[in-house]
Amino acid sequence: MGKKLYIETVGCQMNMLDSELAVAALRKEGYELVDSPKKADTILFNTCSVRAHAEEKIYSALGRLKHTKSYHPDKIIGVMGCMAQNHQETVFKRAPYVDLVLGPGQLHQLPELLQDIQTNGGRRIEVSLDRRAASRKTVEASFESYDPLRDPQMRPTPYQAFVRIMIGCDKFCTYCIVPKVRGPEQSRSPEEIELEVKQLAAEGCREITLLGQTVNSYKVRSNGQTVRLSDLLVRLHEIPGIDRIKFVTNYPNDMRADLVEAVRDLPKCSPYFHVPAQSGCNEVLKGMRRGYTVEMYRDMLAMIRDRIPEAAITSDFIVGFCGETDASFEKTMQLVREARFKNSFIFKYSPRPGTKGADQLPDDIPDAVKKERNNALLAVQNQISEEDNQPFIGTQAEILVEGPSKTSQKRGESGHSLQLTGRTTCDRIVVFDGNPRQIGQILPVRIYDANAFTLFGSVITDHVGPQLFQLGRVPSPSS
Ligand code: SAH
Ligand code: SF4
Ligand code: F3S
Repeated sequence: MGKKLYIETVGCQMNMLDSELAVAALRKEGYELVDSPKKADTILFNTCSVRAHAEEKIYSALGRLKHTKSYHPDKIIGVMGCMAQNHQETVFKRAPYVDLVLGPGQLHQLPELLQDIQTNGGRRIEVSLDRRAASRKTVEASFESYDPLRDPQMRPTPYQAFVRIMIGCDKFCTYCIVPKVRGPEQSRSPEEIELEVKQLAAEGCREITLLGQTVNSYKVRSNGQTVRLSDLLVRLHEIPGIDRIKFVTNYPNDMRADLVEAVRDLPKCSPYFHVPAQSGCNEVLKGMRRGYTVEMYRDMLAMIRDRIPEAAITSDFIVGFCGETDASFEKTMQLVREARFKNSFIFKYSPRPGTKGADQLPDDIPDAVKKERNNALLAVQNQISEEDNQPFIGTQAEILVEGPSKTSQKRGESGHSLQLTGRTTCDRIVVFDGNPRQIGQILPVRIYDANAFTLFGSVITDHVGPQLFQLGRVPSPSS
């Protein structure tokens, strides 16, 4: 039996990380990655349940495989991730030719289950316990945290990696499926995290992004002491080879001054905070059970900007949540105008069966209104993003070079110049003409143009020697 693996991933960074770990574990078993389901013996979908659209996309993709499976019954089709946990047996009902349903808390079982299906045939389902099925401890144990093997090829670049510091979520925002599908909130031990980051650094990784649904709620009792995210940053900052540390996603209520000050005082930490507001209207925030008012959210923004005036702050918004009137939406517009986020992700409310929002509140905003509000808010945000990028023109920045830009041509293959992208420490994308050799280096650039989403720059070469470039450790021209 061949071991050619195709994997498709949707959803958030957690899923991207899970796919990397799954591929690493399967490569160890002799699997080889291929780029289409046609070439594969094993086809995996790593799925998301956060909005209905994400789920429907996967069912459509599965639908397209129905015939393939009837001609090639030996091909194994697996559905893993959040939708596997959410829909469980329903996946088999909607796509009876699926062989494996695997919840995100069961990732560690993947190689063994695939082997078992290959040898013995038949279907398998492995999911974690429902949140109310047993005691908290038992439910927690059923969502195993699994972070042993890495696979740099699965990452957008080998120089950047996600590191999970927490699993699950306990906030239970009324619209959100994540606490159900990812289980109870659990922080990983700082020792384990440190080991993983050291390992990544040894493999040449320069930037790590710490992941948690509410990453700033990280809290562990270790040797009689409480370790918070700010303490963890201090420990990770010591690790040689790591040049940049980021973390997502922040929960507004848990944004403490000690964390912001740690970011301010530790040069490797990016002054970048993704801290979703979701709405600018108190009634809507109450319906969402976010646990803060817009006044508290504004104070939190002021606290960050007081300590780090240049911080890049980004947000998420849901438009068209139950009971959102024109007046409530105007308050959200007002918050976006005032807060001047670097950018915002805007979503139309999608009721998720099994959440309080879907089960107890009517989805009373018509889709056309949701769409209109989405576009209106996006237009305001894009205008702000563009205005905020303008002052960068004429300045210098340090970027970590990630790779060819999407629009770049093949001409780079012969080693000549091509269009590359890199990222500033505050997560701004910079496009510049460079050379493939520069990928993975941290370089100084001068910005000469900007739009809402991108800065355009050129590498500064006149003040540093070639050896510094080789090492990829160029001091900031302004420092
Ligand atoms: N843990 C993060 C993000 C979770 S999901 C946080 O707390 O912010 C990512 C984003 O998807 C959320 O911030 C929210 O804006 C959006 N989202 C979640 N559930 C949704 C739903 N039912 N409909 C529309 N958008 C949703
Ligand atoms: Fe979902 Fe709220 Fe938890 Fe974020 S904090 S994952 S939005 S329940
Ligand atoms: Fe989606 Fe699961 Fe992430 S529901 S947003 S993939 S945690």
